[in-house]
Amino acid sequence: QPSLRLGLAGLGTVGASVVRLLNKHSKDLAVRCGRPIVLRGVSARDRTRDRGIDIGNVNWFQDPVKLAMDPGIDVFVELMGGSSGPAEDAVRAALETGKHVVTANKALLARHGNDLARLAERKGVSLNFEAAVAGGIPVIKTLREALAGNSVSRVAGILNGTCNYILTRMEAEDMSFGECLKEAQRLGYAEADPTFDVGGFDAAHKLALLTSLAFGSEIDVDSIYIEGIERITLADIEAADELGYRLKLLGIAERTESGIEQRVHPTMVPKASAIARIDGVLNAVAIDGDFVGRLMLVGPGAGGDATASSVVGDIADIARGTALAMMGRPSEHLEPYRPAGVRAH
Ligand code: NDP
Ligand code: HSE
Repeated sequence: QPSLRLGLAGLGTVGASVVRLLNKHSKDLAVRCGRPIVLRGVSARDRTRDRGIDIGNVNWFQDPVKLAMDPGIDVFVELMGGSSGPAEDAVRAALETGKHVVTANKALLARHGNDLARLAERKGVSLNFEAAVAGGIPVIKTLREALAGNSVSRVAGILNGTCNYILTRMEAEDMSFGECLKEAQRLGYAEADPTFDVGGFDAAHKLALLTSLAFGSEIDVDSIYIEGIERITLADIEAADELGYRLKLLGIAERTESGIEQRVHPTMVPKASAIARIDGVLNAVAIDGDFVGRLMLVGPGAGGDATASSVVGDIADIARGTALAMMGRPSEHLEPYRPAGVRAH
């Protein structure tokens, strides 16, 4: 079989890990996929920056849109970030010119996913985004493939590694919120603008994607009630502790009598519950299906290498010809959530 030719835009935390993974496992991947996967073009802002990766023989594109449209690639991998601008332009250009797309960009998909999914469908290519939700956890595949026979009533979990890292370290080490956030940034967990993390918006973007897949609805981030962790203090954490709870930022989507309710907020969870024991950068997603019952997936929710694992999983699906199209279908009504304050889980 001919090689699968990649164009990769974004060589930061995730992009650099993807290049390292592809280089390290190229032989195994070729065997597993039945064809070699080759990196044909890359794009980033600063060509001179030493990224510690081997891209010497790869074509450089200063403009990611030009890379996306290049006839020499089959798959465009978008790892730049941003809900509009170059990321959106390049993904649209790639789909328009018949390229499959792999992206980790939940902000883009939460805003434009419905539209981009339709464009991909029209063009007969796939839009893949395993890395966009919960980093290294294969939750998109689980919902779309393994649980396809279930009617899902609830999806809930810890969807932001930065927030969980901050809450865990504040509790364990009496570190200030600001110090914990700086450390999360240093480790490559946080978004370019960390307000997205601590304000709950990143978790909301991910929840919107999970809701769409779980309930067959259009992506609707605007109906999500969002409360972040910026105002959580050590005193709140200690008070929860005295009452037998831990504080977690949860994203919850559930079927109610009036429709699908989506919300993101700090939640007191009993110390003995499984979700209370998810620490640091780990994420967890619990899914309730009518036949499977409840299952919970746990794993690293952020970080270059874990996220690269999901990106390359999507690329492998395309190489094998097993990538699935599409988001949900507009069959369910989404109900805005009206909060009654922080509540027990
Ligand atoms: P980084 O900020 O580390 O990297 C962004 C990369 O995009 C950089 O290489 C930057 O170039 C490049 N870039 C930005 N703008 C342009 C442009 N206009 N043209 C060309 N290149 C551009 O981000 P991350 O790797 O952390 O995140 C990338 C994506 O993955 C985001 O959508 C993020 O939400 C998502 N994600 C991140 C995770 C993580 O743990 N970090 C986990 C899951 C998803 P340069 O290096 O020259 O500045
Ligand atoms: N900033 C995100 C997080 C990256 O901390 O979870 C993973 O999507």
